[in-house]
Amino acid sequence: MRLLVCGGAGFIGSNFVRTRLREREDEVVVLDKLTYAGRRENLRDVEEDPRFEFVHGAIEDADAVAAALEGVGAIVNFAAETHVDRSIAEPDAFVRTHALGTFVLLEAARERGLRYLQVSTDEVYGSIAEGSFSESSPLNPSSPYSATKAGADLLVSSYHETFGLETVICRGSNNYGPFQYPEKLIPLMVLNALAADRLPVYGDGLNVRNWLYVEDFAAAISLVLERGNPGEAYNVGGPDECTNIEVVRRILELCGRDETLVDYVADRPGHDRRYSLGSAKVTALGWSAATHFEQGIERTVAWYRDNSWWWQPIRSGAYREYYERQYGRALEG
Ligand code: NAD
Ligand code: DAU
Repeated sequence: MRLLVCGGAGFIGSNFVRTRLREREDEVVVLDKLTYAGRRENLRDVEEDPRFEFVHGAIEDADAVAAALEGVGAIVNFAAETHVDRSIAEPDAFVRTHALGTFVLLEAARERGLRYLQVSTDEVYGSIAEGSFSESSPLNPSSPYSATKAGADLLVSSYHETFGLETVICRGSNNYGPFQYPEKLIPLMVLNALAADRLPVYGDGLNVRNWLYVEDFAAAISLVLERGNPGEAYNVGGPDECTNIEVVRRILELCGRDETLVDYVADRPGHDRRYSLGSAKVTALGWSAATHFEQGIERTVAWYRDNSWWWQPIRSGAYREYYERQYGRALEG
């Protein structure tokens, strides 16, 4: 099949494209706006593959979407603004991409009768003190990021209910692994630890996340694309829960540094305390997580250590200004 992968130049999308080309006979067209988080470098190893095509464009641009859809049999939508802190500082792009962009893609899918997979997040359910959310738990988002993602999920479901479009939604927990932009907790802490820079931990460091290795999420998305029931959502939770400070301590250890590098800084406004997903539905489709946190974090630290070609241009560019604005001090190294 020929797939349109929107947002395929980002972290999870590029990992999905790579595994899809390796494991299936598909042709893949990536449509990506190349925001700060979308980089052709993330797809460097598949650029020469004759089954791969890259189109530079935005999902909210109906003409760009129509052109990219030539010969396509299904759409997988990763395209999003994804950093919660940026959604608090500047929510505009989140509303545009998640609301308008998703709408344009759904209309294009409806006109052509295409299967449509929306990549979503555990954050749409909000925080949970104990236990885990199921797919029928109410949506209760806290940030402009998660609220606009929840809005997109509801719009997707409405296209199934109202127009009979073959839609599926995949809600993942916190991903980590190669090619993740270093504004997110794990790559930020790894690069700062390698450079012996300070590690900013929000609040008391006891917020809990459910860590999912990116290749495991990519595998779940493939499965739901092929076997998911139209109109349904599937939770994909990582196998291990950790507090942020546990994650940071493990990174420090793997980088040969100690906890004197940690700075406890002001908390994120509206900071969700704990996420947790029950993944029984996707497990019943045949999915399980292959990588536990202990092994995944070692692999991830090693990847960043060995691939400075990938992150050095980021750390020396506009990212430095973002970092100074966000953390109120200059980046070392
Ligand atoms: P990312 O920020 O690394 O990549 C997002 C990609 O989307 C980039 O390539 C960017 O250029 C592109 N993009 C943004 N706006 C666009 C637009 N209007 N048109 C076309 N392309 C656009 O994000 P990620 O971490 O890879 O997340 C991908 C998807 O997975 C998102 O929908 C996110 O909500 C979801 N998700 C992420 C996580 C996580 O932990 N990172 C967990 C669960 C779900
Ligand atoms: O849960 C899935 C979501 O995970 C995705 O939908 C989002 O796109 C993705 O960004 C991620 O959201 P989080 O807010 O959980 O991830 P982030 O890496 O920003 O933060 C993880 C935790 O670490 C969170 O509790 C905030 C904390 N944190 C983060 C940063 C960047 C810090 O303590 N210090 C930091 O500098």
